[in-house]
Amino acid sequence: MKVAFIGLGVMGYPMAGHLQKAGHQVCVYNRNNDKALAWQSDFGGDVALTPALAAADCEIVFSCVGNDDDVRQVSLGEDGIFSGLPKGSIFIDHTTASAELAIELGSIAEQNGQYFLDAPVSGGQAGAENGVLTVMVGGDEVVFERAEPVMDAFARFSQLMGPVGSGQLAKMVNQICFVNTVQGLAEGLNFAQKAGLDTDKLLDTIGKGAAGSWQMDNRGKTMCDREFDFGFAVDWVRKDLSIAFEAAEKLGADLTVTKQLDGYYKEIQENGGNRWDTSSLISRFKK
Ligand SMILES: NC(=O)c1ccc[n+]([C@@H]2O[C@H](COP(=O)([O-])OP(=O)(O)OC[C@H]3O[C@@H](n4cnc5c(N)ncnc54)[C@H](OP(=O)(O)O)[C@@H]3O)[C@@H](O)[C@H]2O)c1
Repeated sequence: MKVAFIGLGVMGYPMAGHLQKAGHQVCVYNRNNDKALAWQSDFGGDVALTPALAAADCEIVFSCVGNDDDVRQVSLGEDGIFSGLPKGSIFIDHTTASAELAIELGSIAEQNGQYFLDAPVSGGQAGAENGVLTVMVGGDEVVFERAEPVMDAFARFSQLMGPVGSGQLAKMVNQICFVNTVQGLAEGLNFAQKAGLDTDKLLDTIGKGAAGSWQMDNRGKTMCDREFDFGFAVDWVRKDLSIAFEAAEKLGADLTVTKQLDGYYKEIQENGGNRWDTSSLISRFKK
């Protein structure tokens, strides 16, 4: 299939690579064109100088950029995705953004005779590199069924959550749940270190019981060692939480504890930990 990928960051670069390796004909666009040329030398494929040119003739265009404003910049206007995307083709946005933006883009696509899916991902840098992301999708079922086999190139599991916007709402729940898990783990491991327990044995043991989690299996040991170089950064999680707080306000959903954790992440930023990964909540406790 002829497809395009807009945004070759930590996530987009390997995701686009998996599409090309799966046999699709991929055209990439990146704001900093050097990254697009590096991608081409790694994987082959084509490079375009605007999102509109990348989208021309494509059946599906994927994007994975930073936030709502960035998605608007690559999708709207003369050089944006919508202006190049043929009628009947699909625009799939993998950026973690607001549900309002998804609804806005969905209605533009509808007016143009194009289709739109909001499809934020979970699984981090390792998930993108290994092609095992989880994708939470909002949109029409028929469109999802067309897109799912193509997304399989970089996803282990994709789920249609409901109409446009539902993918982003599901991702907000994911972020709320995981930061609370990380804080529980940080407090537990700090307690264990203060008590002088052997944390390797501890993680091996309690990881098999009711307290076990992906975070415990994958970050427990590195949190004990205060290593925070594992992708998903504090800056990004605060962006995601701010989107969730806005949505919660409208829904009347209580996020009291999550707001407290956002304050902890703010402290970490103020101490220079912007690019540390999200397990750095434990850095607030001295080893
Ligand atoms: N990293 C993770 O573990 C992870 C996990 C799940 C979800 N996400 C989400 O996935 C998205 C991308 O994350 P990432 O880690 O790949 O970010 P990243 O490494 O910072 O890459 C961002 C990409 O978006 C492009 N971009 C940003 N603003 C743009 C603009 N205004 N116009 C054009 N291009 C723009 C950047 O282009 P340049 O190269 O030119 O700067 C770059 O290609 C974010 O929404 C993030 O929250 C990330």
